[in-house]
Amino acid sequence: MDALLTPIRKFLQCETPTAWLNDAVKPENLPNLLIDHLVCELKAAQSAMLLIRRYAVDDASGDALLAWLQPYEDFAYRKRGDWRELADHERLTKAMLPKSDTAYSQVLIDKMVMLIKEELHHFYQVLEIMDALGIAYDNISSSRYARGMLRHVRTHEPATLMDKLICGAYIEARSCERFAALAPHVDPALGKFYSSLLRSEARHFEDYLELAEQISGQPIATRVAFFGEIEAQLIQQPDTELRFHSGPVPAGM
Ligand SMILES: [Fe+2]
Ligand SMILES: [Fe+2]
Repeated sequence: MDALLTPIRKFLQCETPTAWLNDAVKPENLPNLLIDHLVCELKAAQSAMLLIRRYAVDDASGDALLAWLQPYEDFAYRKRGDWRELADHERLTKAMLPKSDTAYSQVLIDKMVMLIKEELHHFYQVLEIMDALGIAYDNISSSRYARGMLRHVRTHEPATLMDKLICGAYIEARSCERFAALAPHVDPALGKFYSSLLRSEARHFEDYLELAEQISGQPIATRVAFFGEIEAQLIQQPDTELRFHSGPVPAGM
């Protein structure tokens, strides 16, 4: 576990504040945290999907990809369908996607398709844990976190893609760091689940970083440091609502 966490902690510019952790482990906050986590898994799949559709495939393949996500989105945003049926829905394979003619977009497709499959599987696993703990799904507002980073993404290519990938790396790395922080303090089954996610997400952070490096063709350290600072602020500064990626919420908020 430590071997996985060392590069993550090195990459992140701050640790999760104790004030956040103290609140996050309170049983009354568990539904909020799990539902937000569930939606974050879907968002991780959606943003990987957007990257493929925007940068690597034609419209028809893009539509096929969208259909893949549809039942998950129907469940999360429209409360449609039975979550148990999602178990049969991890069907899309790499072979169903067209090959790309540019080297970097093929790498992007391969990495992102793997990642989407894993995120959708996590989505299902969170639903299983929620079911076991008797937590019903409900809509939830999203935190400022991802938005707060993405608004600094530059608006010209390839800088836009590079910045988005770096933001993706931070979101994944922070998720790992928080899974590790939460795991010892929650219900043992949930703690075990968080540890298993840590193993899976640890690779995602590196996937995003490697892609950013390959695509930019030049050192990305300055941009990484830039987003690292913004990320650390969003994690440390007081927030208004407790979420998986929120800052600490001062009493009385
Ligand atoms: Fe995930
Ligand atoms: Fe992930």
